[in-house]
Amino acid sequence: MADRAQTKFVLAEKDIPTKWYNIAADLKTPPAAVLHPGTGQPIGPADLAPLFPMELIKQEVSTERWIEIPEQVRDVLRLWRPSPLFRARRLEKALGTPARIYYKYEGVSPAGSHKPNTAVAQAYYNKKEKVARIATETGAGQWGSAIALASQMFGLQCKVYMVKVSYQQKPYRRVMMETWGASVVASPSPDTQAGKKILEKDPDSTGSLGIAISEAVEDAATRDDTKYALGSVLNHVLMHQTVIGLEAKKQLEKADDEADVVIGCAGGGSNFAGLSFPFAADKLAGKRKKLRIVAVEPTACPSLTKGVYAYDFGDTVGMTPLVKMHTLGHGFIPAPLHAGGLRYHGMAPLVCKLYDEKVIEAVAVPQLATFQAAIEFARSEGIIPAPESAHAIRVAIDEALRCKKEGKRQTIVFNLSGHGNFDMGAYEQYLAGKLQDYEYPAEKIAEALAGVPQVKA
Ligand SMILES: Cc1ncc(COP(=O)(O)O)c(C=O)c1O
Repeated sequence: MADRAQTKFVLAEKDIPTKWYNIAADLKTPPAAVLHPGTGQPIGPADLAPLFPMELIKQEVSTERWIEIPEQVRDVLRLWRPSPLFRARRLEKALGTPARIYYKYEGVSPAGSHKPNTAVAQAYYNKKEKVARIATETGAGQWGSAIALASQMFGLQCKVYMVKVSYQQKPYRRVMMETWGASVVASPSPDTQAGKKILEKDPDSTGSLGIAISEAVEDAATRDDTKYALGSVLNHVLMHQTVIGLEAKKQLEKADDEADVVIGCAGGGSNFAGLSFPFAADKLAGKRKKLRIVAVEPTACPSLTKGVYAYDFGDTVGMTPLVKMHTLGHGFIPAPLHAGGLRYHGMAPLVCKLYDEKVIEAVAVPQLATFQAAIEFARSEGIIPAPESAHAIRVAIDEALRCKKEGKRQTIVFNLSGHGNFDMGAYEQYLAGKLQDYEYPAEKIAEALAGVPQVKA
């Protein structure tokens, strides 16, 4: 029996999962093919080889349910995993809710978010295949920090294209990456053809994840010693994050509890998938039919709730393969929200497929209500959340208030994907009343959707 006041549910190092969970094994129908951007034909491993090490390409298309986590990867994960699951007793009390709220805290990693879970695995496979240098993009700076850290751990060089608005808002994230040995430029940058093209059209471009991806992909594709690493969206990235949900399920067992609602914020979908896919496995197996799984996105960039389900490019310029996903159009540049990691026009194809099949739900929340939830959380639980993670908190609070209204004692579990200790600029603006909501940009989205390629699904 769990102690009635127990707040932290912790596991031993031996409980770090030894295998990743691959949800592709449990889908009712196979995922849509990935198409070549030039020919429109399904791509094969050889098409991806200039960008990724072969082991990751194999994972990308694997339908094995469980994939072994290499010992050297687990050795690095040991630095912070297993991460704690907290019962948010103080928040529950502040809300006066009968619901039980738990959060899985991924901010305990050295980089401060869930992103190192996949960065370490990706750096390991690159090193194993004798790659010398990694090129990548970063939005909020969390992914860049994670891959800078992981590159350092495995002796790789690292170049980070950082979305300009974040580069300006978060100078200490840049310094963090440089401390771990990475080299960082603001994107769009003059270092690539893609960046130069955007700067010619719009010298004041604040950048976007889509643009930064174009730059990093071009860098990797044009250098023999370099491969590309992506911090979200791809199947293998989502799979590496499932250590979160696998641990959380064990921790809930320790708490003698079972989730009714599982919540994660969704930019490209990786932390959401990491927590929720091991729970979704039960739902797909017909075991937990009533379990609700909710992805939360910003109203300023609502790819699941307002996008179209179609083939589109993963980047802005149109260099990446075409994937079937909920998209706002690859040309869509979201407002400069403080949740930089949620400013992406698309969404992970696996998350989209589950959404399309109604295994998961999605909801969009505005910036001000999100910061209000972040403050409420910080003042009751102590941890100052990343603005991205605060989207999950907003919906966890809304669900807890619904339980209060309905007099239901449900169990709510959300992913606190990172801390916000480098986001003080955003908190300062919120506290000074200077932040604004960005209404659903219907016109801009319609314009960008017109540019989605016409591919028969
Ligand atoms: C703390 C945090 N949470 C969430 C995200 C969104 O990414 P994803 O949807 O891949 O988890 C980011 C992205 O940078 C992030 O830094």
